[in-house]
Amino acid sequence: MDIAKLMYREGFMEGERILVTGGGTGLGKVMAEAFLKLGASVHICGRREGKLQETADELMGRHGGSVSIHACDIRSHESIDEMISDIWQDGPLTGLVNNAAGNFVSRTEDLSVNGFNAIADTVFRGTFYMTHACGTRWIEQGLRGNVLSILTTWVWNGGPFVVPSAMSKAGINIMTQSLAVEWGRYGLRFNAIAPGLFPTEGMSARLSPEGRGGNSVDRMNPMGRHGEMHELANLAVFLMGPGAEWVNGQTIAIDGAGYQANSGNFYQALAPMGDEDWQRMRESIKGTNAKDKAQRTT
Ligand code: HXC
Repeated sequence: MDIAKLMYREGFMEGERILVTGGGTGLGKVMAEAFLKLGASVHICGRREGKLQETADELMGRHGGSVSIHACDIRSHESIDEMISDIWQDGPLTGLVNNAAGNFVSRTEDLSVNGFNAIADTVFRGTFYMTHACGTRWIEQGLRGNVLSILTTWVWNGGPFVVPSAMSKAGINIMTQSLAVEWGRYGLRFNAIAPGLFPTEGMSARLSPEGRGGNSVDRMNPMGRHGEMHELANLAVFLMGPGAEWVNGQTIAIDGAGYQANSGNFYQALAPMGDEDWQRMRESIKGTNAKDKAQRTT
């Protein structure tokens, strides 16, 4: 990320204590860096402790401040509870960014129950567990709290070839709207960002092997490009920082008007693929998954 393109003054997020799930890599790391740079204390969690440590060292080396790491698989509500209790012992969070996700492109007829669950357990259930673990503590202690969830524009028009992800993120979209109302009276707020294509390693390997799928979307974007990381970070800071507290229950797209123009999903890129193409893609995705798995500590 080009940190010089953050649009906020130094110290803008001082006093904030924010946990970013999946904060060791990709969009989570970008948001964690922006919050840290602007003075927040940052916590990041993920399944690969080594990756988390590397990111924490890198970000603190660059900006100072505090980045705490937590090895946690958000599919397990027990691990979440343990992590949140640990964090709370040092002091309550002021904000949670639900960024961790799992996804891969697949024809829906090729999905097994395990394949569906691998995604739904992370995105749909895990995000709820995280939100519930923080929300119940904020309510019990009479504290304000702020939750931002990272969705996709597929929550509005569907995600062919990524159906478990689209279904799960659509559920989190409704959670955002529902809790903004139900828990607004406790001073808690809930918003979401629906990014278009912001290329990351995890995304490219699983949604765009061979340059198909995800990476073809920017060629069709009205602005002729994909998103820049600082653009996402600026929106995340707007929603997580002080000064816009009355924004509640909103899901904001940041996609260069991609989904209005051409659906923003992968239908056109992937529909022409045949059996052999899918077989190759599946092997390539599984190779990435196996490599990631070997690094997991939880
Ligand atoms: C069909 C597949 C498959 C594939 C895995 N499976 N890959 N099925 N096609 N390509 C099946 C497996 O065969 C197995 O089912 C089941 O899924 C679980 O596989 P595991 O490898 O054991 O899964 P697991 O280790 O739990 O990994 C979870 C994961 C993985 C979701 C599969 O991709 C992951 O950890 N991802 C995290 C990072 C990530 O995905 N980032 C991208 C997010 S992008 P069987 O039946 O064989 O047991 C995003 C939005 C992008 O979310 C928006 C862009 C616009």
